[in-house]
Amino acid sequence: MGSSVDTAPRLYHKIFFPKNDQFVGKSDVLKTMHSSLDHSGHDKHHRAAVLWGTGGIGKTQIATAYAHDRKEAGVPLILWINSETRLNLYQDFTDIALGLGLGGAVAGNHAANLFLVQKWLEKTTLTLVDYALATNWLLIFDNVVDYGLVSESWPLGAMGSALLTSRPEICDHLLRSIEVPKFDSNTGRDLILATVSRDCYAATE
Ligand SMILES: Nc1ncnc2c1ncn2[C@@H]1O[C@H](COP(=O)(O)OP(=O)(O)O)[C@@H](O)[C@H]1O
Ligand SMILES: [Mg+2]
Repeated sequence: MGSSVDTAPRLYHKIFFPKNDQFVGKSDVLKTMHSSLDHSGHDKHHRAAVLWGTGGIGKTQIATAYAHDRKEAGVPLILWINSETRLNLYQDFTDIALGLGLGGAVAGNHAANLFLVQKWLEKTTLTLVDYALATNWLLIFDNVVDYGLVSESWPLGAMGSALLTSRPEICDHLLRSIEVPKFDSNTGRDLILATVSRDCYAATE
């Protein structure tokens, strides 16, 4: 008893931040992310990338923009995992296990919930293959401090993508490394104008 893992497919999107209508620039980084992470019909490899750069440079914003783009493109499962501490990561896997309604998920039983989500992703890829796009799931591990913590929770199934964000670069043969560049002066000007116009709008309300 208890050995069979629930593998019924589900649609589920948990993106921590709403779409940012003020998002500007970074189109080169987004292009690299698409070529590193999106699957085409014939390619069955698990894809992963780390977006890295100094604090405040825009890693979480870019991950958010990419996640909403993939959701709109029809990727059926998008899971956001705040990864700064073990407790953050555990709590998010527990929320996902409960949100997906996985059989056996229990609030507070974090390690077991993580295992359930991991196994479910590994098995469910097989049943979702015909759904919309070739990519079945996208996991976003935001603000990774300890890569070991993330690699323990990695599902091994193909046809999924994982995006990590981190301040330092993480070197691993499993990861494509994408450095976030500073804003160039044109984009910086656009960002300032967008912020100013938002503030002016707020001030006249
Ligand atoms: N591409 C962008 N467009 C608009 N605002 C941005 C962009 N990148 C960063 N910002 C602003 O900078 C802040 C910090 O970005 P964030 O993604 O949280 O940085 P990081 O995750 O690298 O620490 C955001 O809250 C946002 O206000
Ligand atoms: Mg961040």
